[in-house]
Amino acid sequence: MSLSMDRRQWLKSSALVAASLALPRDLAATPHAAQSAHPRDLQDIVKLNSNENPFGISPKAREAIVEAAEFTHYYPHPAYPELVDLIARDNDLTSDHIMLGAGSTELLCLAGFRFGAQGGKVVMGDPSYFDAHDFYVRVGADLRLVPLNEAFEHDLDAIDRRLTWDVNHVYICNPNNPTATVVDPSALRSFCEEAGRRTMVFIDEAYHDLALDPYESMVDLVRDGENLIIFRTFSKIHGLAGARVGYAMAKPEIIEQIEEMSTNFAPISNLSIRAAIASYEDTEFLDTCRAANHEARTHLYTTLDRLGYFYVPSHTNFVLFRIRRDRREVQQEFRDRSIMLRTFTINDTPWIRVSMGTPEQMGAFEEALEAIAP
Ligand SMILES: Cc1ncc(COP(=O)(O)O)c(C=O)c1O
Repeated sequence: MSLSMDRRQWLKSSALVAASLALPRDLAATPHAAQSAHPRDLQDIVKLNSNENPFGISPKAREAIVEAAEFTHYYPHPAYPELVDLIARDNDLTSDHIMLGAGSTELLCLAGFRFGAQGGKVVMGDPSYFDAHDFYVRVGADLRLVPLNEAFEHDLDAIDRRLTWDVNHVYICNPNNPTATVVDPSALRSFCEEAGRRTMVFIDEAYHDLALDPYESMVDLVRDGENLIIFRTFSKIHGLAGARVGYAMAKPEIIEQIEEMSTNFAPISNLSIRAAIASYEDTEFLDTCRAANHEARTHLYTTLDRLGYFYVPSHTNFVLFRIRRDRREVQQEFRDRSIMLRTFTINDTPWIRVSMGTPEQMGAFEEALEAIAP
């Protein structure tokens, strides 16, 4: 599969994309735009707002879905043994260390409820994963937000100082969304060991497959029996955001406690499970997507440098950069060109977070960037 094209092709196709599109109102209304639309309606939109895989799913996952369609009248096995074993083997854990969920969001919520989010004290970085923050606010958590440091990374010392005896858990997103930064692995490892004696530690590794050095997963601490839960997802590099598959890794006692919060009925469909298994094993597809993401990111850096924008070097499939104009106006101007992205206010300054797309999509985005000059 070839994911790259030369710059001339890129710009030509991007001009076509930009010229032919108008973004329907309901799609513009929400960051997760598929909520109110048939996914087909998204095809013509330059959708760079949810950090999905722009190349779709592995051909092997597609085949697996078609094959599994025949068995959709059966309920899934509630323990999903095949996928659980695959993940356990790959991470040098046992199946008792793994719990699957309908996206990592389901698991973050179940674990959140189990470990005292409702009305209890929770510590997290700021800014960090917006939907986790939103969940904590909605369930009435007493949130302690700890500003990131000057490098836009989690400030582990400052977080540690906020971990009083009555904190129910700490949530750390690594790589962090929306800054795309990682924490120094040895500092994070020491933090997890120390903090885990006082409270439960959540480590959200949604972008694990895309991170660059010096990133390291904290999964070895799960093996060592520390007090932490790692969350991962098939929604990013695997391109299975619409299939809703995620997993948590923790020592068996912790997994049992999260499982107490769920029902006996399996929340993930047979189709999604088969797709996830096929994708997990399709290392060629994953390598190709990783390389294409790297290429898009490098190309964007060159453009941002040329246009004089400050950006945060990214360990993910999105890039955060500072703009000079009102963020809502800018977001609207991109929407008028059928380009969806996210904007944030961080330290009283407006920023754009743009997901890496196909070369065509990135061409359309970069062209719009030059025209809109945010
Ligand atoms: C940090 C982080 N965690 C979790 C999720 C959600 O993952 P899922 O689709 O598995 O629910 C996202 C999605 O953007 C994310 O950025």
